[in-house]
Amino acid sequence: MRRLVAGTGWKMNNGIADSIRYAEELRSRIAAMDTSAIDVYVLPPFTSLTTAAYAFDGSPVAIGGQNMHWEDSGSWTGEISAPMLLEAGCRYVELAHSERLQHFGETYELVRRKLDKAMSVGLIPILCLGELAEEKAAGRADEVLASQMLTAIDGQPDTRVPEIIMAYEPRWAIGMAEAASPGYIAERHRALRNILRKHCGDEVAEKTRIIYGGSVTPENGKDILEIEDVDGLFVGRAAWKAEGFARIVELVSEAARRKQLA
Ligand code: 13P
Repeated sequence: MRRLVAGTGWKMNNGIADSIRYAEELRSRIAAMDTSAIDVYVLPPFTSLTTAAYAFDGSPVAIGGQNMHWEDSGSWTGEISAPMLLEAGCRYVELAHSERLQHFGETYELVRRKLDKAMSVGLIPILCLGELAEEKAAGRADEVLASQMLTAIDGQPDTRVPEIIMAYEPRWAIGMAEAASPGYIAERHRALRNILRKHCGDEVAEKTRIIYGGSVTPENGKDILEIEDVDGLFVGRAAWKAEGFARIVELVSEAARRKQLA
């Protein structure tokens, strides 16, 4: 059984004061929910990490960074390292978000170095994978996903791959009016699991979580969670208010209970 995941990336939102308000509201909204079967994460901007770590302490919510450097320290102006994230209270780190690739020139070769560092210090990587609209149109989505994943995990022993949360985020579906269709999501998640099966074996493929992100809302989330190979939701805008994320956490908790009973 794979533990389902409910996560949100705040992107460049929620400074210190807003982070405290969000954490207080989210804690009270999810206090009565049974979240014991799921993992919940929030990814604040760097300056809010420590505040959020204290504000969520003792709750089911863990925090993570939205990016990091592959070195521990040094002359890398403007960068944040894995040990710094750990010290700030992070359990997770997001890597290869579409906006990092699009606006900051990140490549999966750099992501591989970051993932390696994250794994070596015990941060859980949330590895984003997704095709562009042109790649989808050319029927190349699965080939692109395979190349991204295999580049990023190159050098990791198969046995450690299930520690990584794979986040399928079609780059054409992020920040849009609608998510990818459930049928399309089902095909890509199946393809991603098959890539894991082929390169890392059945056991790794069965254990590794593959979550979906891209215009998820409390309204479309339930149908997406019904898909067999979807192990959770990664939400942007619809979770930037605590109320929205609380609804997502509830959906994922209910889906986890349904899967346990099935
Ligand atoms: P939206 O939910 O706003 O489309 O953002 C998704 C995302 O980027 C998750 O990483």
